[in-house]
Amino acid sequence: MSEDELFLTAILNCSRSDLYIRQFVLTDSQQQQLDLMRQRRSNQEPVQYICGFTEFMGLRMAVGSGVLVPRPETEVLADQLVRELKAGSHSECRVLDLGTGSGCLAISVASFVRQSYAVAVDSSVEALAFARENARRNAVQDRVSFVQMDMFSFMEQDTGEYDAIVSNPPYIPSSLIDGLPADVKMEPRLALDGGADGLDYYRRLVPLSLRLLKSGAMLLLEFGDGQEKSLQNIFEQDHAWDKIRLLEDNTGRPRVIMACKNKFPLPTKDKRHG
Ligand SMILES: C[S@@+](CC[C@H](N)C(=O)[O-])C[C@H]1O[C@@H](n2cnc3c(N)ncnc32)[C@H](O)[C@@H]1O
Repeated sequence: MSEDELFLTAILNCSRSDLYIRQFVLTDSQQQQLDLMRQRRSNQEPVQYICGFTEFMGLRMAVGSGVLVPRPETEVLADQLVRELKAGSHSECRVLDLGTGSGCLAISVASFVRQSYAVAVDSSVEALAFARENARRNAVQDRVSFVQMDMFSFMEQDTGEYDAIVSNPPYIPSSLIDGLPADVKMEPRLALDGGADGLDYYRRLVPLSLRLLKSGAMLLLEFGDGQEKSLQNIFEQDHAWDKIRLLEDNTGRPRVIMACKNKFPLPTKDKRHG
């Protein structure tokens, strides 16, 4: 869709094809709205912030200043998680979403896996306001709990046993943030900056997940371009993960890593040698 088409579908609350079939004539106030949207876009504001929403897994997610716009790549993560949970023989399943942002992952799971219950953590008050609103709008507020907290403190304190942990953590190397497109830079830095090599979050999150996952349960993480080898190393260091797999996004790039917590943990390297 062109940007004008997107703006018009937002103003008229209709689909793209409706724009052409129904031949709307804009009222004065709708024309003013369109002019304002074009002006905001000329100031490099993300299109989705201007429209006030985006689509994720076919669900409408409200977005705006203070929250990361869910990306199509992240649908690979959501889709895989939903498939795995549906394929499992869970009568009830518990999912932990770390750095939930708009809530897109937790809300997708709750929407598509009826017997699921999600805990969604984010340290950002602004992001969680959108996430709560999105859970309400998608009628899953009873099956998603939101926690405003640092994800690592949460992981250290929580005693829950989860069937899956999912996260799309910040993964852009700090030195690349300044060179990002202007509209991406309007999204919260807390959602983007993954430290010197972009892997700071994974180094803490992967080992901390072990304590919270049931035996055989899975961890699914999105990652950035070219980070797959380092991530595989992080998983292999623990000798605690099984079935480590990479999934590609729609452009054919490795984008998601998933692994299951070993049912029968191997002794660590040190122990095996002596
Ligand atoms: C890349 S965004 C992902 C948002 C959403 N899950 C998605 O896929 O669109 C990362 C999220 O992690 C949150 N975050 C960053 N550091 C955090 C921390 N230490 N504790 C909790 N949340 C954190 C940010 O506020 C942001 O919402």
